[in-house]
Amino acid sequence: MIDLYRTLWPLIRRMDSESAHALVVRALKLGLAGNPGTGTPDDAFLATRLWGLSFANPVGLAAGFDKDAEVVLPVLRLGFAFVEVGSITPLPQPGNPRPRLFRLLQDRAVINRMGFNSKGLAEAQRNLEACVRPFPGVLGVNLGKNKDSPDAAADYRRGVEALGPFADYLVVNVSSPNTPGLRALQGRGPLGELLDGVQREIGRLPASVRPPLVVKIAPDLTTEQARDVADVVLALKLDGVTVGNTTLSRPARLESPHRNETGGLSGRPLMDLSTRLLARIYYLTEGKVPLIGVGGVESGETAYRKILAGASLVQLYTGLVYEGPSLIGRIKRDLADRLRNDGHATLADAVGQGHKDLLED
Ligand code: FNR
Repeated sequence: MIDLYRTLWPLIRRMDSESAHALVVRALKLGLAGNPGTGTPDDAFLATRLWGLSFANPVGLAAGFDKDAEVVLPVLRLGFAFVEVGSITPLPQPGNPRPRLFRLLQDRAVINRMGFNSKGLAEAQRNLEACVRPFPGVLGVNLGKNKDSPDAAADYRRGVEALGPFADYLVVNVSSPNTPGLRALQGRGPLGELLDGVQREIGRLPASVRPPLVVKIAPDLTTEQARDVADVVLALKLDGVTVGNTTLSRPARLESPHRNETGGLSGRPLMDLSTRLLARIYYLTEGKVPLIGVGGVESGETAYRKILAGASLVQLYTGLVYEGPSLIGRIKRDLADRLRNDGHATLADAVGQGHKDLLED
Protein backbone atom coordinates (compact mmCIF):
# COMPACT_ATOMS: atom_id res chain seq x y z
CA MET A 1 0.00 0.00 0.00
CA ILE A 2 1.42 3.41 -0.86
CA ASP A 3 2.11 5.95 1.84
CA LEU A 4 -0.31 8.61 0.65
CA TYR A 5 0.77 11.33 3.09
CA ARG A 6 4.43 10.98 2.20
CA THR A 7 3.61 10.90 -1.50
CA LEU A 8 1.61 14.10 -1.18
CA TRP A 9 4.06 15.79 1.21
CA PRO A 10 5.70 17.99 -1.47
CA LEU A 11 2.24 19.46 -2.10
CA ILE A 12 1.15 19.55 1.54
CA ARG A 13 4.27 21.44 2.64
CA ARG A 14 3.54 24.18 0.12
CA MET A 15 0.04 24.71 1.53
CA ASP A 16 -0.64 27.12 4.34
CA SER A 17 -0.35 25.01 7.54
CA GLU A 18 -3.85 25.53 8.78
CA SER A 19 -5.44 24.69 5.42
CA ALA A 20 -3.30 21.53 5.28
CA HIS A 21 -4.55 20.56 8.74
CA ALA A 22 -8.17 21.15 7.75
CA LEU A 23 -7.63 19.00 4.65
CA VAL A 24 -6.20 16.12 6.67
CA VAL A 25 -9.09 16.27 9.15
CA ARG A 26 -11.54 16.21 6.26
CA ALA A 27 -9.77 13.25 4.66
CA LEU A 28 -9.94 11.40 7.99
CA LYS A 29 -13.65 12.18 8.31
CA LEU A 30 -14.29 10.83 4.85
CA GLY A 31 -12.28 7.69 5.57
CA LEU A 32 -9.74 8.59 2.86
CA ALA A 33 -6.66 8.81 5.05
CA GLY A 34 -5.68 5.20 5.56
CA ASN A 35 -2.42 4.11 7.06
CA PRO A 36 -0.14 1.47 5.61
CA GLY A 37 0.50 -1.33 8.06
CA THR A 38 -2.57 -0.94 10.26
CA GLY A 39 -4.81 -3.92 10.65
CA THR A 40 -2.10 -6.07 12.17
CA PRO A 41 -2.54 -6.19 15.95
CA ASP A 42 0.07 -4.46 18.10
CA ASP A 43 2.97 -6.42 19.54
CA ALA A 44 1.69 -7.71 22.91
CA PHE A 45 4.93 -6.46 24.45
CA LEU A 46 3.71 -2.88 24.01
CA ALA A 47 0.45 -3.36 25.91
CA THR A 48 0.07 -1.51 29.18
CA ARG A 49 -2.57 -0.84 31.82
CA LEU A 50 -3.13 2.46 33.52
CA TRP A 51 -6.03 3.77 35.59
CA GLY A 52 -7.81 0.48 34.99
CA LEU A 53 -7.70 1.10 31.24
CA SER A 54 -6.03 -1.10 28.63
CA PHE A 55 -3.68 0.58 26.17
CA ALA A 56 -2.69 -1.64 23.23
CA ASN A 57 0.51 0.41 22.93
CA PRO A 58 1.87 3.52 24.65
CA VAL A 59 1.57 5.91 21.69
CA GLY A 60 -1.20 8.52 21.56
CA LEU A 61 -2.20 11.61 19.60
CA ALA A 62 -1.60 14.80 21.59
CA ALA A 63 -4.20 17.51 22.15
CA GLY A 64 -4.60 20.22 19.54
CA PHE A 65 -5.03 18.03 16.44
CA ASP A 66 -8.66 17.07 17.03
CA LYS A 67 -9.79 20.11 18.98
CA ASP A 68 -13.52 19.45 18.60
CA ALA A 69 -13.61 15.66 18.80
CA GLU A 70 -14.47 15.31 15.12
CA VAL A 71 -12.24 12.38 14.15
CA VAL A 72 -11.82 10.21 17.25
CA LEU A 73 -12.43 6.88 15.57
CA PRO A 74 -10.44 7.53 12.36
CA VAL A 75 -7.48 8.67 14.48
CA LEU A 76 -7.60 5.52 16.60
CA ARG A 77 -7.74 3.47 13.42
CA LEU A 78 -4.42 5.00 12.33
CA GLY A 79 -2.76 2.91 15.04
CA PHE A 80 -2.74 5.22 18.06
CA ALA A 81 -3.77 3.51 21.29
CA PHE A 82 -5.30 6.71 22.56
CA VAL A 83 -6.39 10.11 21.37
CA GLU A 84 -6.71 13.28 23.39
CA VAL A 85 -9.32 15.68 22.03
CA GLY A 86 -9.33 19.42 22.82
CA SER A 87 -8.53 21.73 24.30
CA ILE A 88 -12.24 22.41 24.50
CA THR A 89 -13.52 25.69 25.96
CA PRO A 90 -17.00 26.04 27.47
CA LEU A 91 -18.28 28.49 24.86
CA PRO A 92 -17.30 28.54 21.19
CA GLN A 93 -14.49 31.01 20.45
CA PRO A 94 -12.55 31.74 17.26
CA GLY A 95 -9.01 31.85 18.65
CA ASN A 96 -6.38 34.28 17.38
CA PRO A 97 -6.37 35.85 13.93
CA ARG A 98 -4.63 33.94 11.13
CA PRO A 99 -1.89 33.22 10.31
CA ARG A 100 -1.34 31.48 13.65
CA LEU A 101 0.31 28.19 12.72
CA PHE A 102 3.80 28.01 11.21
CA ARG A 103 5.97 25.14 10.05
CA LEU A 104 9.66 25.49 10.80
CA LEU A 105 10.75 23.06 8.10
CA GLN A 106 14.51 23.27 8.69
CA ASP A 107 14.00 22.62 12.39
CA ARG A 108 11.31 19.91 12.15
CA ALA A 109 9.21 22.12 14.41
CA VAL A 110 5.99 24.11 14.53
CA ILE A 111 5.08 27.38 16.21
CA ASN A 112 1.41 27.93 16.99
CA ARG A 113 -0.58 30.70 18.55
CA MET A 114 -4.00 29.22 17.86
CA GLY A 115 -5.39 30.63 21.12
CA PHE A 116 -7.89 27.85 21.87
CA ASN A 117 -10.02 27.98 18.75
CA SER A 118 -12.87 25.77 19.90
CA LYS A 119 -16.43 24.98 18.92
CA GLY A 120 -17.25 24.66 22.60
CA LEU A 121 -18.54 21.99 24.94
CA ALA A 122 -21.96 21.51 23.34
CA GLU A 123 -20.50 20.71 19.92
CA ALA A 124 -17.88 18.35 21.39
CA GLN A 125 -20.65 16.64 23.35
CA ARG A 126 -22.67 16.11 20.18
CA ASN A 127 -19.62 14.72 18.39
CA LEU A 128 -18.80 12.31 21.19
CA GLU A 129 -22.40 11.17 21.50
CA ALA A 130 -22.32 10.24 17.82
CA CYS A 131 -19.27 7.97 18.20
CA VAL A 132 -20.03 4.26 18.19
CA ARG A 133 -18.83 2.49 21.34
CA PRO A 134 -16.85 0.70 22.54
CA PHE A 135 -13.89 2.59 21.05
CA PRO A 136 -10.95 0.72 19.59
CA GLY A 137 -8.78 2.69 22.03
CA VAL A 138 -8.76 5.18 24.89
CA LEU A 139 -10.28 8.68 24.80
CA GLY A 140 -8.75 11.60 26.68
CA VAL A 141 -10.62 14.89 26.91
CA ASN A 142 -8.53 18.01 27.38
CA LEU A 143 -10.28 21.02 28.92
CA GLY A 144 -9.48 24.70 28.49
CA LYS A 145 -10.97 28.03 29.48
CA ASN A 146 -12.51 30.81 27.43
CA LYS A 147 -10.23 33.77 26.80
CA ASP A 148 -12.71 36.29 28.23
CA SER A 149 -13.90 34.21 31.14
CA PRO A 150 -13.20 35.86 34.49
CA ASP A 151 -13.50 32.54 36.37
CA ALA A 152 -11.12 29.84 35.16
CA ALA A 153 -12.19 27.37 37.83
CA ALA A 154 -15.83 27.63 36.77
CA ASP A 155 -14.84 26.99 33.15
CA TYR A 156 -13.01 23.78 34.02
CA ARG A 157 -15.89 22.64 36.22
CA ARG A 158 -18.29 23.16 33.32
CA GLY A 159 -15.98 21.06 31.20
CA VAL A 160 -16.06 18.23 33.73
CA GLU A 161 -19.82 18.31 33.97
CA ALA A 162 -20.37 18.31 30.20
CA LEU A 163 -17.63 15.97 29.01
CA GLY A 164 -16.45 14.02 32.05
CA PRO A 165 -19.00 11.25 31.39
CA PHE A 166 -17.54 10.69 27.89
CA ALA A 167 -13.88 10.70 28.89
CA ASP A 168 -11.68 7.74 29.79
CA TYR A 169 -9.40 10.36 31.33
CA LEU A 170 -9.66 14.13 31.72
CA VAL A 171 -6.90 16.69 31.32
CA VAL A 172 -6.82 20.13 32.88
CA ASN A 173 -4.67 22.18 30.54
CA VAL A 174 -3.04 25.07 32.38
CA SER A 175 -0.06 25.32 30.10
CA SER A 176 -1.03 26.68 26.68
CA PRO A 177 1.00 29.82 26.07
CA ASN A 178 -1.64 31.55 23.94
CA THR A 179 -4.34 32.31 26.50
CA PRO A 180 -3.46 35.28 28.70
CA GLY A 181 -2.97 34.35 32.37
CA LEU A 182 -3.46 30.61 31.86
CA ARG A 183 0.03 29.52 32.79
CA ALA A 184 -0.16 31.44 36.07
CA LEU A 185 -2.60 28.74 37.22
CA GLN A 186 0.42 26.43 37.57
CA GLY A 187 1.57 28.20 40.76
CA ARG A 188 1.25 26.21 43.99
CA GLY A 189 -1.74 28.07 45.45
CA PRO A 190 -3.83 28.57 42.31
CA LEU A 191 -3.10 25.04 41.03
CA GLY A 192 -4.08 23.40 44.31
CA GLU A 193 -7.31 25.36 44.47
CA LEU A 194 -8.17 24.74 40.83
CA LEU A 195 -7.51 21.00 40.85
CA ASP A 196 -9.25 20.53 44.17
CA GLY A 197 -12.36 22.14 42.65
CA VAL A 198 -12.11 19.97 39.55
CA GLN A 199 -11.75 16.82 41.65
CA ARG A 200 -14.86 17.76 43.61
CA GLU A 201 -16.76 18.28 40.37
CA ILE A 202 -15.64 14.86 39.14
CA GLY A 203 -16.84 13.47 42.47
CA ARG A 204 -20.34 14.73 41.61
CA LEU A 205 -20.49 12.59 38.47
CA PRO A 206 -22.11 9.15 38.74
CA ALA A 207 -19.51 6.65 39.99
CA SER A 208 -19.67 4.65 36.77
CA VAL A 209 -18.40 7.57 34.67
CA ARG A 210 -15.85 9.23 36.95
CA PRO A 211 -12.65 9.66 34.93
CA PRO A 212 -9.10 9.92 36.26
CA LEU A 213 -7.68 13.46 36.31
CA VAL A 214 -4.42 14.55 34.70
CA VAL A 215 -2.82 18.00 34.67
CA LYS A 216 -0.85 19.20 31.66
CA ILE A 217 2.08 21.47 32.44
CA ALA A 218 4.48 23.68 30.51
CA PRO A 219 8.01 22.51 29.69
CA ASP A 220 9.29 25.91 30.80
CA LEU A 221 8.76 25.43 34.54
CA THR A 222 11.76 26.10 36.77
CA THR A 223 12.96 23.47 39.23
CA GLU A 224 11.16 25.35 41.97
CA GLN A 225 7.90 25.50 40.01
CA ALA A 226 8.21 21.81 39.18
CA ARG A 227 8.50 21.07 42.88
CA ASP A 228 5.32 23.07 43.56
CA VAL A 229 3.43 21.14 40.90
CA ALA A 230 4.69 17.81 42.22
CA ASP A 231 3.69 18.72 45.78
CA VAL A 232 0.17 19.62 44.68
CA VAL A 233 -0.12 16.44 42.59
CA LEU A 234 0.95 14.27 45.51
CA ALA A 235 -1.16 16.13 48.08
CA LEU A 236 -4.32 15.80 45.96
CA LYS A 237 -3.45 12.28 44.79
CA LEU A 238 -3.91 13.35 41.21
CA ASP A 239 -3.98 10.51 38.67
CA GLY A 240 -1.37 11.80 36.26
CA VAL A 241 0.73 14.60 34.80
CA THR A 242 1.35 15.38 31.15
CA VAL A 243 4.77 16.88 30.48
CA GLY A 244 4.27 18.96 28.55
CA ASN A 245 2.89 21.61 26.33
CA THR A 246 4.67 23.80 23.78
CA THR A 247 7.54 26.05 24.88
CA LEU A 248 7.85 29.82 24.82
CA SER A 249 11.62 29.43 24.70
CA ARG A 250 13.55 29.58 21.44
CA PRO A 251 16.66 27.40 21.37
CA ALA A 252 19.52 29.34 19.76
CA ARG A 253 20.02 26.75 17.06
CA LEU A 254 16.69 27.35 15.27
CA GLU A 255 17.23 28.04 11.57
CA SER A 256 13.79 28.57 10.08
CA PRO A 257 12.70 32.08 9.03
CA HIS A 258 9.59 31.61 11.21
CA ARG A 259 11.59 31.08 14.38
CA ASN A 260 10.65 34.43 15.89
CA GLU A 261 6.89 34.11 15.42
CA THR A 262 4.96 34.54 18.66
CA GLY A 263 3.52 31.34 20.12
CA GLY A 264 4.44 27.89 21.42
CA LEU A 265 7.21 25.87 19.81
CA SER A 266 6.78 22.11 19.36
CA GLY A 267 8.62 19.29 17.63
CA ARG A 268 12.28 18.28 17.54
CA PRO A 269 13.72 21.34 19.36
CA LEU A 270 11.35 20.64 22.29
CA MET A 271 12.53 17.09 22.92
CA ASP A 272 15.41 17.68 25.35
CA LEU A 273 13.71 20.41 27.36
CA SER A 274 10.47 18.50 27.85
CA THR A 275 12.24 15.20 28.59
CA ARG A 276 14.39 16.80 31.30
CA LEU A 277 11.28 18.20 33.00
CA LEU A 278 9.59 14.82 32.64
CA ALA A 279 12.49 13.16 34.48
CA ARG A 280 12.33 15.80 37.19
CA ILE A 281 8.59 15.35 37.72
CA TYR A 282 9.13 11.57 37.85
CA TYR A 283 11.79 12.10 40.50
CA LEU A 284 9.71 14.59 42.50
CA THR A 285 6.64 12.37 42.45
CA GLU A 286 8.80 9.36 43.35
CA GLY A 287 7.65 7.37 40.36
CA LYS A 288 4.22 7.03 41.99
CA VAL A 289 2.21 9.06 39.50
CA PRO A 290 1.66 7.99 35.88
CA LEU A 291 3.20 10.49 33.49
CA ILE A 292 2.45 11.19 29.85
CA GLY A 293 5.57 12.28 27.96
CA VAL A 294 5.03 14.63 25.04
CA GLY A 295 7.26 17.02 23.12
CA GLY A 296 9.49 16.07 20.21
CA VAL A 297 8.53 12.41 19.86
CA GLU A 298 9.29 11.54 16.24
CA SER A 299 10.83 8.05 16.32
CA GLY A 300 11.09 4.86 18.36
CA GLU A 301 14.26 6.26 19.86
CA THR A 302 12.64 9.47 21.10
CA ALA A 303 9.61 7.57 22.42
CA TYR A 304 11.96 5.20 24.26
CA ARG A 305 13.85 8.15 25.78
CA LYS A 306 10.55 9.51 27.15
CA ILE A 307 9.75 6.14 28.70
CA LEU A 308 13.19 5.84 30.31
CA ALA A 309 12.77 9.38 31.65
CA GLY A 310 9.53 8.37 33.37
CA ALA A 311 6.66 8.34 30.88
CA SER A 312 4.14 5.49 31.05
CA LEU A 313 2.57 6.80 27.84
CA VAL A 314 3.82 9.10 25.10
CA GLN A 315 2.02 11.45 22.75
CA LEU A 316 2.96 13.32 19.61
CA TYR A 317 1.62 15.90 17.23
CA THR A 318 4.38 17.71 15.32
CA GLY A 319 6.14 14.48 14.30
CA LEU A 320 2.96 13.53 12.51
CA VAL A 321 3.01 16.77 10.51
CA TYR A 322 6.42 15.89 9.06
CA GLU A 323 6.12 12.12 8.73
CA GLY A 324 2.42 11.37 8.31
CA PRO A 325 0.61 8.44 9.90
CA SER A 326 3.09 5.75 8.81
CA LEU A 327 5.27 7.14 11.63
CA ILE A 328 3.00 5.48 14.21
CA GLY A 329 3.81 1.95 13.04
CA ARG A 330 7.53 2.74 12.79
CA ILE A 331 7.59 4.04 16.36
CA LYS A 332 5.78 0.98 17.69
CA ARG A 333 8.03 -1.52 15.92
CA ASP A 334 11.23 0.25 16.86
CA LEU A 335 10.11 0.74 20.45
CA ALA A 336 9.31 -2.96 20.87
CA ASP A 337 12.76 -3.86 19.49
CA ARG A 338 14.51 -1.46 21.83
CA LEU A 339 12.63 -2.71 24.89
CA ARG A 340 13.45 -6.32 24.04
CA ASN A 341 17.07 -5.64 23.15
CA ASP A 342 17.63 -3.83 26.44
CA GLY A 343 16.21 -6.81 28.32
CA HIS A 344 13.10 -5.21 29.81
CA ALA A 345 10.52 -7.78 30.85
CA THR A 346 7.61 -5.42 30.07
CA LEU A 347 7.04 -1.87 28.93
CA ALA A 348 6.18 -0.85 32.49
CA ASP A 349 9.52 -2.24 33.60
CA ALA A 350 11.39 0.37 31.53
CA VAL A 351 9.44 3.38 32.85
CA GLY A 352 11.75 5.80 34.65
CA GLN A 353 14.85 3.59 34.42
CA GLY A 354 16.90 6.47 33.02
CA HIS A 355 15.42 9.43 34.88
CA LYS A 356 18.45 9.98 37.15
CA ASP A 357 20.72 10.64 34.17
CA LEU A 358 18.57 13.64 33.28
CA LEU A 359 18.52 15.38 36.66
CA GLU A 360 20.90 18.30 36.50
CA ASP A 361 21.10 19.32 40.15
C1 FNR B 1 -0.97 22.04 20.38
N1 FNR B 1 -0.93 21.59 21.70
C2 FNR B 1 -2.05 21.71 22.49
N2 FNR B 1 -2.06 21.23 23.76
C3 FNR B 1 -3.14 21.33 24.55
O1 FNR B 1 -3.12 20.86 25.69
N3 FNR B 1 -4.28 21.91 24.07
C4 FNR B 1 -4.36 22.42 22.81
O2 FNR B 1 -5.41 22.92 22.41
C5 FNR B 1 -3.22 22.33 21.98
N4 FNR B 1 -3.23 22.84 20.71
C6 FNR B 1 -2.14 22.67 19.88
C7 FNR B 1 -2.19 23.12 18.57
C8 FNR B 1 -1.11 22.92 17.74
C9 FNR B 1 -1.19 23.38 16.32
C10 FNR B 1 0.08 22.27 18.22
C11 FNR B 1 1.28 22.05 17.31
C12 FNR B 1 0.13 21.84 19.52
C13 FNR B 1 0.31 21.00 22.27
C14 FNR B 1 0.47 19.55 21.95
O3 FNR B 1 -0.55 18.78 22.53
C15 FNR B 1 1.83 19.04 22.48
O4 FNR B 1 1.85 19.18 23.88
C16 FNR B 1 3.01 19.79 21.88
O5 FNR B 1 2.78 20.09 20.54
C17 FNR B 1 4.32 19.02 21.99
O6 FNR B 1 4.27 17.81 21.29
P1 FNR B 1 4.91 17.61 19.82
O7 FNR B 1 4.08 18.44 18.90
O8 FNR B 1 6.32 18.11 19.90
O9 FNR B 1 4.81 16.17 19.54
